[in-house]
Amino acid sequence: MLHIPLIVNIFISIGTYLMTLRMIPRFKEMFISASLYGKDLCKKTSDKIPESLGVISGCIFLVGLFLFIPIPFSFKEQTTKSNEFPHSEFVELVAALLSICCMILLGFADDVLNLRWRHKLLLPTIATLPILMVYYVNFNSTTIIMPKFIRPLIGHSLNIGVLYYIYMGMLAVFCTNAINILAGINGLEVGQSIVISISILIFNIIEILNNNQISGHLFSIYLITPFLTTSLALWNYNKYPAEIFVGDTFCYFAGMTFAVVGILGHFSKTLLLFFIPQIANFLYSVPQLFHLVPCPRHRLPKYNSETDLLDISSTIFVKNGLGVLGRTCVFLFRYFKLIKWQENKDGTITTNNFTLINFVLHVFGPVHEKILTRMLLGLQVVCTLIAFTIRYPMAKYFYDT
Ligand code: UD1
Ligand code: MG
Repeated sequence: MLHIPLIVNIFISIGTYLMTLRMIPRFKEMFISASLYGKDLCKKTSDKIPESLGVISGCIFLVGLFLFIPIPFSFKEQTTKSNEFPHSEFVELVAALLSICCMILLGFADDVLNLRWRHKLLLPTIATLPILMVYYVNFNSTTIIMPKFIRPLIGHSLNIGVLYYIYMGMLAVFCTNAINILAGINGLEVGQSIVISISILIFNIIEILNNNQISGHLFSIYLITPFLTTSLALWNYNKYPAEIFVGDTFCYFAGMTFAVVGILGHFSKTLLLFFIPQIANFLYSVPQLFHLVPCPRHRLPKYNSETDLLDISSTIFVKNGLGVLGRTCVFLFRYFKLIKWQENKDGTITTNNFTLINFVLHVFGPVHEKILTRMLLGLQVVCTLIAFTIRYPMAKYFYDT
């Protein structure tokens, strides 16, 4: 059966791909003259690389979807018997775009103003408000289904009320920042977002073929397809050697798009399964993020201009200078050989910065930037395969679905 909205969506996505591909080179100089540029810290040259080009792909994504707004509703009559207009689906689509639009604006503001860490947590919370409000009006189901083994204790389901909204807000904060902190080598921010969006698309298609919650998964496909194509165009310029940087704008835009489809498509738990490397990177980073261990401004790997390879970047501290929590963390990391540990003559300690990128370098030694990106994206793909093997057998085991 031909699904007209889907076909139109694919055409629009191809259009946004071509548009992004054309627009980025034209804007490069403009960004540099507006002082929106950075230095590639893993290269010999110190050329100005335009930063925040994610705003271009984000805006083209929005224009494509604005044009798409009427499409699913113009062809609705063929599929539904009632002639009533599906107000709730309509407002969900518009609110989703409003949230993403808001996130692009706030992300761009972050790039221009270089906001502090606490603001980075606030921005996604503000941007999720449109979809949370729509969720409240439309759906307002805050009941979660319990896994089989605790049903005798609590019952089949539990209404967690306002906690559910807090969970959804935190999901957006997590998705956006988790991508932003797994960054620093060419192509990694966009590359991981491309792998995650392909994983989501595959999951949506499987669920539609299984006749599960079709409208939610269709909604997700409508948003993820143009996201994927615009990101592929961005990848073309951001891959090694990067001509442009995508900026925090892109990280927020990508994370928000994932959070929106996870929440409004009702698959937020499965969505998190596609974030295994980001979750690992976040947990590993916790001691530095919360300043239990000193955290330098940049934690990206250290470039060796003689060998053209990347090696771990490090942080130095005095062991007794750390608090109890900090000491416990480094003790555990050291015990499980998760970090490189070096005791210096002057009594200080040198360890690598706690990021997944540095961990890969700690295990495999100095690697070329291009290969390192491939290794991390390969890991992302392997984790998607693990996610699918967890999702289907485990869901059956825990929930009978
Ligand atoms: C996050 C990380 C930081 C990492 C940075 C790299 C945390 C808490 N923060 O900070 O450790 O160093 O991302 O993006 O984990 N850059 C490159 N090559 C790249 C991408 C970026 O050299 O492929 C450099 C450029 O100088 C660029 C800058 O990183 O200008 C962008 O950093 P920014 O996105 O502002 O850093 P944060 O997101 O704050
Ligand atoms: Mg960043």
